Amino acid sequence: MKIIIDTPEKIAEAAAKRYVELLSEKPDAVLGYATGSTPLDLYAELARLNRAGEITFKDVTTFNLDEYVGLDGTHDQSYRYFMDKNLFEKIDVDMAKTHVPSGMDVDKAAEYDKAIEAAGGIDLQLLGIGNNGHIGFNEPGTPFGSVTHVVELTKSTREANKRFFSSIDEVPTHAVTMGIKTVMNARKIIFIALGSAKAPIVREMIKSDVTPEVPASVLLLHPDVEVYLDFEAAALL
Ligand code: F6R
Repeated sequence: MKIIIDTPEKIAEAAAKRYVELLSEKPDAVLGYATGSTPLDLYAELARLNRAGEITFKDVTTFNLDEYVGLDGTHDQSYRYFMDKNLFEKIDVDMAKTHVPSGMDVDKAAEYDKAIEAAGGIDLQLLGIGNNGHIGFNEPGTPFGSVTHVVELTKSTREANKRFFSSIDEVPTHAVTMGIKTVMNARKIIFIALGSAKAPIVREMIKSDVTPEVPASVLLLHPDVEVYLDFEAAALL
């Protein structure tokens, strides 16, 4: 695990460079994307580089980590909608090759792993971390062998995400998420944590034992993870 500590702006630039490098070597790479506040600067930087002609996404295939159960892609809080607005509509990706788990057709969850495999496996997976250590929506206690599945969201996750909804009652109770094993199968992982609220869990992830109680701690077992932290998120290390 390589740890890089810098400002959010420099982190977005450095992480974007990894995409430039990967796509210049492998233009048809398979990219795993995340939603939430954390990747927004990176997505803006990728869109800028795309406009400037320094990167093209025209041959990539993408798979997102997760989606809320019960929200279809036109709902403005769905993760499909988030990706379309914050990245896909701003870059030259082929929309037909972008995948977000279906929040409506959850019986198809297991097919998501098969689709990833059929595409050749994920070359580069982007991850953020929840305040409780979740990656994707793999909440504490999720077995490390899990593949894409439906989860019940914890109170802490619903509290953290209620900022996007009119009230906590509007926050879906369930989500479909890539499993820990799905994430760990990615050949390379870029992990980003920003802000002081993440400092305690970042410390736990890096300093505690590898345990399902801190799902992100599994990343210590991955051979190629770059951990980008801003100064606030790194403050307790
Ligand atoms: C999002 C995801 C989550 C978030 C995490 C942090 O697709 O899988 O694990 O990365 O909840 O969210 P933010 O970035 O909003 O702090």
